[in-house]
Amino acid sequence: MKIPDIIIAVDGYSSTGKSSLAKKIARKFDFLYLDSGALYRGVTLFAQEERLISRLGKVSDALREALSGLDLHFDAEGRLCMGPRCIEQQIRTMEVSAQVSPVAAVPYVREWVDEKLHEFGRRGRIVMDGRDIGTAVFPHAEMKVFVTASDEIRAQRRYDELKAKGEEADFEAILQNLRERDRIDSTRTVAPLRQAEDALVLDNSHLTIEQQKQWLLDQFYKLTS
Ligand code: CDP
Repeated sequence: MKIPDIIIAVDGYSSTGKSSLAKKIARKFDFLYLDSGALYRGVTLFAQEERLISRLGKVSDALREALSGLDLHFDAEGRLCMGPRCIEQQIRTMEVSAQVSPVAAVPYVREWVDEKLHEFGRRGRIVMDGRDIGTAVFPHAEMKVFVTASDEIRAQRRYDELKAKGEEADFEAILQNLRERDRIDSTRTVAPLRQAEDALVLDNSHLTIEQQKQWLLDQFYKLTS
């Protein structure tokens, strides 16, 4: 079967495993996978390194100007780079997770990231995951999936992921962080996290990644046949 040149938007709450699912689908169809959250994480790391964000998460107005000199891009393996530096590991730390939602709520940060996402996604045949892909970035995406799972299960997955990488992990801190991010992401003024009306909902609390992939493929074939 010929796979049509479509955009698949995968949105949902923090740590629902959207990226793993989106990556698998992209590989299956030979689509480009784009992780929009990585860009918000990259901007947050940049703001931290340039001291443009306070400990309490207050973003300095100087970030707006500074963004014009920021080069964030993905390398051939899909890892985020800042100029010549691969920052894939640094953007996944708890320090970045703790401040990314306030940064992502700043309207000019969203404009900057959206512009990049449109540039990267120009050619179609992409799977993009995030919070507002089906509602704001690509509202005309042909296929939209909204992923959800219980808080505890999401926190446990993130905990296991950090542990597997040999990093420090505190279950309670992770749980608090994802609840707080969901709160900020869902209540911000610009492009809040919400389910698009035409999105297919996937609650993956009790599904393996293979079952999720199968579910998505079934939906995809229904939609395109
Ligand atoms: O990996 P996880 O699902 O926890 O988060 P992520 O996809 O890496 O996104 C990190 C943060 O970026 C989110 O908590 C949002 O604050 C922000 N984000 C956003 O506002 N809009 C997007 N399209 C993607 C991420």
